[in-house]
Amino acid sequence: MPIKHFLQFKDLTAEEIDYLFERAQVIKRRFKAYEPHHTLSDRTLVMIFEKASTRTRLSFEAGMHQLGGAAIYLNTRDSQLGRGEEVEDAGQVISRMCDLVMIRTFEQSIVERFAANSRVPVINGLTNEYHPCQILADIFTFIEHRGPIQGRTVAWIGDSNNMCNTWLQAARLLDFNVHVSTPPGYEVEPDRANDFGQDHFEQFADPMEACKGAHLVTSDVWTSMGFEAENEERRKAFADWCVDAEMMANAAPDALYMHCLPAHRGEEVTAEVIDGPQSVVWDEAENRLHVQKALMEYLVRGRMG
Ligand code: CP
Ligand code: NVA
Repeated sequence: MPIKHFLQFKDLTAEEIDYLFERAQVIKRRFKAYEPHHTLSDRTLVMIFEKASTRTRLSFEAGMHQLGGAAIYLNTRDSQLGRGEEVEDAGQVISRMCDLVMIRTFEQSIVERFAANSRVPVINGLTNEYHPCQILADIFTFIEHRGPIQGRTVAWIGDSNNMCNTWLQAARLLDFNVHVSTPPGYEVEPDRANDFGQDHFEQFADPMEACKGAHLVTSDVWTSMGFEAENEERRKAFADWCVDAEMMANAAPDALYMHCLPAHRGEEVTAEVIDGPQSVVWDEAENRLHVQKALMEYLVRGRMG
């Protein structure tokens, strides 16, 4: 079987994503019923972190353990990766000692170079450009609460960052719409916009307009990891891109609110919204565990059950 990586959302087909969601449902149910599900026993996941993480590390590490395997954590500070070892060499060596690799890093090109030299599947655990595992969990969460996402509208309020890019890729693949509203100067890059296909997304200058009729409203930090030097400038530019009760009232009556977390109440979302009845952020965080277990199992063993 050729190696399958998950470096961008579109690395999987719509059919494969449907399978993963069905499988994640089974895995979640079994886990909650205390039924063992050791489909990756004796297998090892290596997790490489060049940026901080709570949810991603925890969900991959706990998930691999629950699948009967082991997870090893490497970071730049205390491995040779931080001392200039070539990404290509790291890919060759690390992939000879494990069955699966997850990487959180800066440029997308780093995970691609690693994957090109890897004997085992590589998963993108967040790059500057994409966060595909998070969007898998988000769409799974939407389906659990509201049914199929096809034909629905997602309002993205804030920065055209890694999360936004991944929503746009997913919209094209799974046939739903994204309304993006960013402050001037922070719009989706034109090259990227072409890649996403104009049929599935629209840009709005006014965040209230972007929320109109949306079935899901979602926002993220104004300053992503790696861009901290722009923090002050961004705080000023994004001040009107805070999801509040008024924006939620403009969305569909049963609209959900999501945030990949960590969140800053009073910046990209008010406490009233994120802690309110439309918010599903805790389910969203938990579902990282279940969908990533389905993903790891699929990349290593293919379709099962
Ligand atoms: N949402 C997310 O990826 O969280 P962490 O940065 O804590 O992994
Ligand atoms: N856009 C954020 C997501 C964090 C999970 C970042 O890249 O920092």
